[in-house]
Amino acid sequence: MRILFVGDIYGKVGRQMVDDYLARIKSHYRPTMTIINGENSAGGRGITEKIYKSLMEAGADAITLGNHAWDNKDIFEFIDQANKLVRPANFPPGTPGEGIRFVNMNQIEVAVINLQGRTFLPAIEDPFRTADTLIEKAKQRTNVIFVDFHAETTSEKVAMGWYLQGRVSAVIGTHTHVPTADERILPEGTAYQTDVGMTGPYNGVIGVNRDAVIRKFKTSLPVRFESETGRGQLSAVIIDIDPSTGQATKIKRLLVNDDHPFND
Ligand SMILES: [Fe+2]
Ligand SMILES: [Fe+2]
Repeated sequence: MRILFVGDIYGKVGRQMVDDYLARIKSHYRPTMTIINGENSAGGRGITEKIYKSLMEAGADAITLGNHAWDNKDIFEFIDQANKLVRPANFPPGTPGEGIRFVNMNQIEVAVINLQGRTFLPAIEDPFRTADTLIEKAKQRTNVIFVDFHAETTSEKVAMGWYLQGRVSAVIGTHTHVPTADERILPEGTAYQTDVGMTGPYNGVIGVNRDAVIRKFKTSLPVRFESETGRGQLSAVIIDIDPSTGQATKIKRLLVNDDHPFND
């Protein structure tokens, strides 16, 4: 089976890239399942029910989140009913939503897990121990386990890759919005990439209006961050998995922007 994972959708420009390219990418690569990280899909801040539904209609089979999960208060109204939406699992007990969801794709059950790192991010529960518990739960149903590890530092992400290798099909990083060139299959059959990158404005600063960010760095004064406008980028990864063992066999990076045009 093949999983297409698309990195953080950022605002209107990111959603437009999904509309413009997802169908073409899917008809070219023919994934069994498409997973999208949607934590920045509502103007860079969280996700709404309307956007969740529109991303599902555009071709997602599951949507993961991250530290921006709660930015749009709409989330609390629909997260418990959204059975293909996955928020970071290591928030404290009682947090709305789920950190693991099972999705059935053509008779293959896939466990989708979202975890959030703790380095330079709020101090929530331990993602490593949370992963142990969730993997145990997932293994009762399937060997195909996809982990979106939403974290800031490369070291925490690399460590998670090694920690989970051989136990999950893929550990793919999100959150930094810049794709890393380290995609590989770890020796025990886990696909790994430190960060898949984002899907949003190509000419901003990780999605945000570049002038505002430069002003912030230069003055340290409060600045209102808005999404950058103009041309877009789409970042994704394609992973081949043996559904019986859950082991990954192939991983390929995909980047679409003005400097890397998509050829069907
Ligand atoms: Fe993000
Ligand atoms: Fe994030």
